[in-house]
Amino acid sequence: MSGPCRAVGEVLGSLGTIIRAGITTRDIEDFADTRIRELGGRSAFRGYRGYPASICVSINEQVVHGIPSNRKLNDGDIVSVDVGVEMDGFYGDAAITLPVGNVSDSDSTLMRVTEEALYLGIGQAVEGNRLFDISHAIQRHVEQHGFSVVRMFVGHGIGREMHEEPQIPNYGPPGQGPRLRRGMTLAIEPMVNAGTHDVKILADGWTAVTRDGKKSAHFEHTICVTEATPVILTKYK
Ligand code: MF3
Ligand code: CO
Repeated sequence: MSGPCRAVGEVLGSLGTIIRAGITTRDIEDFADTRIRELGGRSAFRGYRGYPASICVSINEQVVHGIPSNRKLNDGDIVSVDVGVEMDGFYGDAAITLPVGNVSDSDSTLMRVTEEALYLGIGQAVEGNRLFDISHAIQRHVEQHGFSVVRMFVGHGIGREMHEEPQIPNYGPPGQGPRLRRGMTLAIEPMVNAGTHDVKILADGWTAVTRDGKKSAHFEHTICVTEATPVILTKYK
């Protein structure tokens, strides 16, 4: 049986087969929730601070925490899917942003740079480095491309709770913050906006959207710090 992180990776890796114009965000929710249960886990999100669904699905200018609904995906949308699983008292958490049909070159670039920023951040998650080395690597890459990192939400430690210390901002000064130790498990999750970093929360109390209405992308992995290459626990194919 796979652990919570493997289950998260498995769900995210299979999304490519279902995501297309015309399906609703609730179809993605149902698909993911069924898979999570089949794999022996439960959604870590449902009921968390009253969150009403099993996953988060955030379209276009929605940054994170979009609540699945009867809204349909359209050709040209970009859609972020965030999945958290609890299994046997442990947690895994990861997210991916996917294109729906044909997306613009600028939206492809936004997604690519966000994913690259995630891997650059992960590359700094090595024993002996400092926490903000991760943050800085993400911020630098994002800003080099003229995009902005969201300030209002951060990555986090993860393990026996979904959110543990430390918080991991996606911006910050290199060489600072707590020293990273082997065995630390971290959810690193750059949220990147095409325009301003500023976000606001919609009236549903959850959905975070860019204040300027421009698009946003989100990639996340749960990783384990070692003395060398970090282990990506939520890997997908
Ligand atoms: N990956 C997100 C996080 O780390 C998911 C939380 S959604 C919530 O905060 F609904 F559970 F809050
Ligand atoms: Co997270």
